[in-house]
Amino acid sequence: MTSPSREALAKLTPVVTKRWLSPDAWKIDVYEQLDGYAALRKALDVHPDDLIQLVKDSGLRGRGGAGFPTGLKWGFIPQGDGKPHYLVVNADEGEPGTCKDLPLMMADPHSLVEGVIITAYAIRANRAFIYIRGEAVHAARRLRAAVDAAYAKGYLGRDILKSGFDLDLVVHSGAGAYICGEETALLDSLEGFRGQPRLKPPFPAVAGLYAAPTVVNNVETICSVPYIVLGGSDWFKSMGTEKSPGPKIYSISGRVNNPGQYECALGITLRELLELAGGMQDGHELRFWTPGGSSTPLLTAEHLDTPMDFEAMAAAGTMLGTTAVQIFSQQDCPVYATYRWIEFYHHESCGKCTPCREGNYWMARVLRRILSGAGTHEDLDTLLDACDNLLGRSFCALGDGATSPVTSSIKYFKQDYLDYIEGRKAPLFAHAELVGAHS
Ligand SMILES: Cc1cc2nc3c(=O)[nH]c(=O)nc-3n(C[C@H](O)[C@H](O)[C@H](O)COP(=O)(O)O)c2cc1C
Ligand code: SF4
Repeated sequence: MTSPSREALAKLTPVVTKRWLSPDAWKIDVYEQLDGYAALRKALDVHPDDLIQLVKDSGLRGRGGAGFPTGLKWGFIPQGDGKPHYLVVNADEGEPGTCKDLPLMMADPHSLVEGVIITAYAIRANRAFIYIRGEAVHAARRLRAAVDAAYAKGYLGRDILKSGFDLDLVVHSGAGAYICGEETALLDSLEGFRGQPRLKPPFPAVAGLYAAPTVVNNVETICSVPYIVLGGSDWFKSMGTEKSPGPKIYSISGRVNNPGQYECALGITLRELLELAGGMQDGHELRFWTPGGSSTPLLTAEHLDTPMDFEAMAAAGTMLGTTAVQIFSQQDCPVYATYRWIEFYHHESCGKCTPCREGNYWMARVLRRILSGAGTHEDLDTLLDACDNLLGRSFCALGDGATSPVTSSIKYFKQDYLDYIEGRKAPLFAHAELVGAHS
């Protein structure tokens, strides 16, 4: 294992993670000593429209996966419409490999609460929700304690800091379904229905929670807001690239020495991230990796120097996604990894549309057959055909995302599939297991 060099460490840009190493930063008194709620005081003196413009100028793009410009989204909320407006924070964090929002909420819950208050003020919402996945009981407890402390200090409730602005904030625990991270399924779940995506348009900014204008933003997006208010848009744009500005938490897992969260300017390369993460584990060589969770097509060692920003990842045929960087070595099988991911999509498919409900069922079955040594050459065509019927034909992006590991693993690792099919590689499952699992 090697320690990161001075040059590698200089690549770290701790902004939303800057309080993580301060003991007890999650307590409100400590948070306040560390500049906490200073951005709120500043924001409440600014006209809401100017705050929206500030976030537009910063170029902040959503950190939940799609990278939609945040200020633009806020600007879609109709003003003077006489309707209530809502802010909903997406804290579901279900994308395989993603582990940035939960550590953020554990280490620094008040930066989320402060970001929520500023955002709600900007879009003129008097009620906000943080939708957190049900299994994350520890983070929900910490958030609720932070919300209570913020009420007690006058940062939430009526006439916040004598500004005349009122806001109530509710922490809502979901039941733990990947689809409830999709923003419209999340809204259905929050309303008390089974979480299934809604037809868009209308988009949430027009008809969201309780059919009222709603902004849905990711935890990391909202946590960035107080820093932009304090530092200004030029400071934010001084990090990252022209079209992908700012810092980003990259969560690295898999065959590295020091897995974890590394906040760096957008556009860092995997080579640089690997050095920060202490390099590959002994005896392991990089073979394939996901740039942003399992819904983003796999990359290989030939992409070590590709900048990890929205544009360069798209040009490389993948997506930045949630920057969940999962590292696999020559000791890992891309066919098996793909099978495990498709079992996940099969399990998590909400069943609303046929391509995803049936497609993932069949893809899991075919992949299992290949891994059991009973696959045929036609199985590869069947997999690609299923992907063709999912991509762009599914009701929501879960179905599209499921095709990513399949098409990219066949593109880069077709030989591994053929090795199972042509009997050069020992089966991973017995044929009886295959029949038992799906009969
Ligand atoms: C199946 C699925 C799961 C998703 N899960 C999450 C999630 O856990 N957290 C999240 O912020 N966005 C998730 N998204 C993206 C959201 O729909 C939405 O784009 C995002 O919350 C918007 O916030 P942002 O603009 O700040 O990125 C998911 C999307 C899909 C299709
Ligand atoms: S793509 Fe899958 S998760 Fe999305 S609506 Fe269709 S069945 Fe549900």
